[in-house]
Amino acid sequence: MHYSYILSTALCFASFALSHTLPARNSPALPPSQDPWYTAPDDLLSYPAGSIIRVRPDPLSTYAAIGTNLTSASYNILYRTTDGNDLPSFAVTTLFVPVSKSTSSKKSQGLVSYQIPYNSPTVDASPSWTLSTELNSTFSDIAALLEQGWYVSVTDFEGPNATFAVGVAEGHAVLDGLRAVTESSSSPACESSKAWKIGLWGYSGGSIASEFAAELRATYAPEIEIAGVAIGGLPTPVAAVLKAVNESPYAGLIVSGLWGYANAFPVVESYLLSRLTDEAKVSGNFTAGRNMTIIQIFATYPNVDVYSYFIGGEDDIFASPLLQHFWDTQGTMGVHGLPDMPMYVYKAIEDLLAPVQDTDTLVEKYCAEGQAAAARKEGGAQILYERNTIGGHVAEEINEDEAAVEFLSNAINGKLGAGWPGSGGCVVRNVTVGTDTAPDW
Ligand SMILES: *[C@@H]1O[C@H](CO)[C@@H](O)[C@H](O)[C@H]1NC(C)=O
Ligand SMILES: *[C@@H]1O[C@H](CO)[C@@H](O)[C@H](O)[C@H]1NC(C)=O
Ligand SMILES: *[C@@H]1O[C@H](CO)[C@@H](O)[C@H](O)[C@H]1NC(C)=O
Ligand SMILES: *[C@@H]1O[C@H](CO)[C@@H](O)[C@H](O)[C@H]1NC(C)=O
Ligand SMILES: *[C@@H]1O[C@H](CO)[C@@H](O)[C@H](O)[C@H]1NC(C)=O
Ligand SMILES: *[C@@H]1O[C@H](CO)[C@@H](O)[C@H](O)[C@H]1NC(C)=O
Repeated sequence: MHYSYILSTALCFASFALSHTLPARNSPALPPSQDPWYTAPDDLLSYPAGSIIRVRPDPLSTYAAIGTNLTSASYNILYRTTDGNDLPSFAVTTLFVPVSKSTSSKKSQGLVSYQIPYNSPTVDASPSWTLSTELNSTFSDIAALLEQGWYVSVTDFEGPNATFAVGVAEGHAVLDGLRAVTESSSSPACESSKAWKIGLWGYSGGSIASEFAAELRATYAPEIEIAGVAIGGLPTPVAAVLKAVNESPYAGLIVSGLWGYANAFPVVESYLLSRLTDEAKVSGNFTAGRNMTIIQIFATYPNVDVYSYFIGGEDDIFASPLLQHFWDTQGTMGVHGLPDMPMYVYKAIEDLLAPVQDTDTLVEKYCAEGQAAAARKEGGAQILYERNTIGGHVAEEINEDEAAVEFLSNAINGKLGAGWPGSGGCVVRNVTVGTDTAPDW
């Protein structure tokens, strides 16, 4: 019927439209926390990681708001993934179909998994629900990708429990999202069997998901080939950011981050609640953040000393062996594997929110490991790391936007060229790019 027609012309979804439940035509769109569509099936365990559980036309028709001259349809795809406890879970991605397809190669089709820093501990802040409202400043990025003729997959990488900043779960959600999208095109009904050329892109909170996906690819999803990864404003280690932003305009990130870990790990939730001061229990100031979007969180906690909500202050967060275990295993980049695809890393030197030294350290580690791997003829990192002399963390997202799309274009079209660091290579350079000179605070 109608949907299967749209789906098959769009991305060869025909077989899925027939075999997967579609919603009633006129059901009103509901926030994820209230929408039965966003639930795990009883037989979740029987789905392999990355397999599609349900597909529906995006009930919010976000594609129309982005521009029907760029995208002809958007779909929500719900798929099996694996959470931070290595247990089966699910996630949702919103897939945009480009109007013009990649022309660079008749044999391949570009696809970018774009990770938005939604930075919230509530599932109702997921991009599949908030893209055209809270998160519509990302439309220009999505449009820039669609203009290249690429499919764009916008992942709700925090998953149904909104596990903000829990890197392993987020990386899995990105990789399984890629499996789901590429699986969707492999039905026999498809007119062609083009190979996908895949790029990842994420800034700040989005880079956590993209970067962990790059690290985990070789062990978790080795069949997924990634042509290039553009990541900026890396907030690693997460604990360093939680230290840096207290009493700053972005202090709310601490509330968001702590709830993200509590959402993922019940033992963290019990611990945090047990450490709240009587005053914080009475005011409910800490608990209130759990259901807020990041815009609400920034508005609620500017310049607040978030650690004053805890009996032992900052020590309750940074001197706790329990939390340290999670910061080390889930919130630190560079410990889950060496990314082996070309990566473009960008960062403002004056980034106060996620200090540049920590990204310097990560890149140095990858470069050293990459050289060792290349010496063993086992591939290795291929990184261009640009440190920008202009602006702070927030400005950098805009300042290097074009550079990120240009990198993805070259990577996806096989045109990185001789100037690109070869296998095991690494180039670190200071640049002066962009016009937004705003400091962070
Ligand atoms: C799409 O339409 C918008 C205005 O609605 C215009 O600004 C943009 O340039 C168009 N893009 C393309 C690729 O035609
Ligand atoms: C959400 O978290 C709870 C508590 O850890 C867990 O029991 C549940 O399975 C999680 N849900 C999903 C879909 O991962
Ligand atoms: C984003 O949404 C707001 C209102 O929710 C609207 O005023 C604004 O024009 C939208 N921006 C874009 C780029 O669609
Ligand atoms: C969080 O809960 C409060 C109180 O119930 C409500 O006013 C607010 O809109 C909720 N926020 C979100 C994002 O659901
Ligand atoms: C927290 O609670 C106190 C009252 O105990 C109030 O004065 C304060 O403004 C509240 N807000 C935040 C964000 O801490
Ligand atoms: C880049 O800038 C830093 C200051 O942040 C300086 O210490 C370093 O020497 C510069 N590196 C290069 C390659 O110019």
